[in-house]
Amino acid sequence: MRGSAVFHILLLCQCWTWAHSKADNDAAQTLDQGLQVEIQGVETNQSESTKQTNGTVDFWAELKELRDMTIELKTDLKHYLSRIEKLEQEKLDLEVRISSAEKEMEEIKSENADQPKVAFSLGLTNAGRLGPYNTDITLRFSKIFKNYGQAYNPDTGVFTAPVRGAYYFRFTFCEINNAHWMGIHLYHNSKIIMTNYDRSNTYYETMSNGVILELERGDVVYMVLQAPYTVYDDHRNYSTFTGFLLFQL
Ligand SMILES: *[C@@H]1O[C@H](CO)[C@@H](O)[C@H](O)[C@H]1NC(C)=O
Ligand SMILES: *[C@@H]1O[C@H](CO)[C@@H](O)[C@H](O)[C@H]1NC(C)=O
Ligand SMILES: *[C@@H]1O[C@H](CO)[C@@H](O)[C@H](O)[C@H]1NC(C)=O
Repeated sequence: MRGSAVFHILLLCQCWTWAHSKADNDAAQTLDQGLQVEIQGVETNQSESTKQTNGTVDFWAELKELRDMTIELKTDLKHYLSRIEKLEQEKLDLEVRISSAEKEMEEIKSENADQPKVAFSLGLTNAGRLGPYNTDITLRFSKIFKNYGQAYNPDTGVFTAPVRGAYYFRFTFCEINNAHWMGIHLYHNSKIIMTNYDRSNTYYETMSNGVILELERGDVVYMVLQAPYTVYDDHRNYSTFTGFLLFQL
C-alpha cells in the first residue's frame, strides 16, 4: 500500500511536468482535471491513511532506527558474550580450585587415617599407699581410663611408642596425712627425664608435671617410685598418668 501510493505520486508528477511542457491547453486542461481527480483520490487516500504516507518516511526512519538498534544490540551482545566468557573462565578457575581443595581434603583424611591412635589415661591404684620399698620400682597403673592403641602395658607399667613422633606425657601424684615424702622419676628408655619430690603436710598434697618427648618407634616411657618414698591413691583417682601422640615425625 505504501509502495503503491509513492508510485502514484511519482507518476502524477511526471504527468504534470509532461503536461505543462506541452502547449496544448485542452490536453493540459483535460489532464489537469484528470490529475486533480487523481490528486484528490491520492489526497483522500492520503488523508485516509496519513500514517501510511508518513509511514513511508517513518519506514526509513524506522529502518535506520532498527539498524542503529541492531548495532547497539550487537555491541551489547559482544559485551555480554565477553562477560559470559569471563564468567566461564571464572567458573573453570573455581572448579580447579574446588577440585584441588577436595584433593587436599582427601589427603588430610588419609593422613588422619594413617595417623595411629595413641592415647592413654590411667589411675594408679585403689589400694591406698604404695611404698616405701627398698629399691626403685616401676609403677604399674592398674586403673585404665583409656588406652587407645594399647601402647601402655598394664602388666609392666611401660608405654611403648608404636611410631616415631612427638608425644606428650603428664602425671599427678598425691600423698595424704602428715609427713609422707613422695619421690618419683619419669623415664625415657633408661634416661631420667623428670624427678619430683613433695611432702604431705596436715592433709592432701599433690605434685604434677608434664613434658613433650621425641620418641623413636619402640622407645619406652614409664614412671618409677624411688626408694624409700611413697605415693597414695584410692577410688578418688588422686594419682594419674596420661600420655598421647601429638604427631608423627
Ligand atoms: C484510494 O484507495 C481505494 C481503496 O483503498 C482505491 O480503491 C482507490 O482507487 C484509491 N484512489 C486512488 C486515487 O488511488
Ligand atoms: C506526517 O503528517 C503530518 C500531518 O499529516 C505532518 O505534520 C508531518 O510532518 C508528517 N511527517 C513526516 C515525517 O512527513
Ligand atoms: C575414678 O575413675 C574411675 C574410672 O574412670 C571412675 O569410674 C570413678 O568414678 C573415678 N572416681 C572418682 C571419685 O571420680
